[in-house]
Amino acid sequence: MVEYLFKTLVIGDIGVGKTSLIKRYVHHVFGSTYKPTIGVDFALKVINWDSETIIRLQLWDIAGQERFGTMTRVYYRDAVAAFIVFVLDINRNTTFEGVRKWKDDLDSKVMLADGSKIPCFLLANKIDMLEESEIDAKKAQLDDFVAEKEFAGWFPTSAKENKNIDRAASELIRTIIDNE
Ligand code: GTP
Ligand code: MG
Repeated sequence: MVEYLFKTLVIGDIGVGKTSLIKRYVHHVFGSTYKPTIGVDFALKVINWDSETIIRLQLWDIAGQERFGTMTRVYYRDAVAAFIVFVLDINRNTTFEGVRKWKDDLDSKVMLADGSKIPCFLLANKIDMLEESEIDAKKAQLDDFVAEKEFAGWFPTSAKENKNIDRAASELIRTIIDNE
């Protein structure tokens, strides 16, 4: 039996749903009351990956507020992968401004042992608030953005309706294992 411990980050602007995604993934619950994360929270998900592999996925839930602080370098240390979470705004032409800032912060402060960027997936959360057609209309723009900023991929997610969270986590783990 092989056991891995992977430190991963969940970052993104205030209120986009980072804590809710983690709670849904790890504890299978969702609450609609907003309680801002202060500093950083931790969660651990143990996954029976295959018959001979156990993955201990450590999730660092970093407060959106921390983008304006000085602690992210400390929080990012030794992370092997990340999720950046945001909410699609269909009412204006998305600039992904917050996402860009988080990705640049991440890439400037943490890297793999070989000097390459840590794999990072983009999560467009709260898709339960959008129509299918509204998401479709944004797909090409997201694909371009993900390529430009060197994300490993993106998923439309909902913590409320439990959409694509397990899938995104599995992709993240697969990418980490491929880097081992
Ligand atoms: P900070 O800790 O301040 O950085 O925020 P956060 O990114 O952790 O956001 P949090 O998970 O606390 O969620 C903020 C609000 O959005 C809460 O009221 C959640 O109930 C709501 N929310 C989170 N995910 C979803 C979702 O998928 N759909 C909907 N409709 N609401 C969501
Ligand atoms: Mg939070």
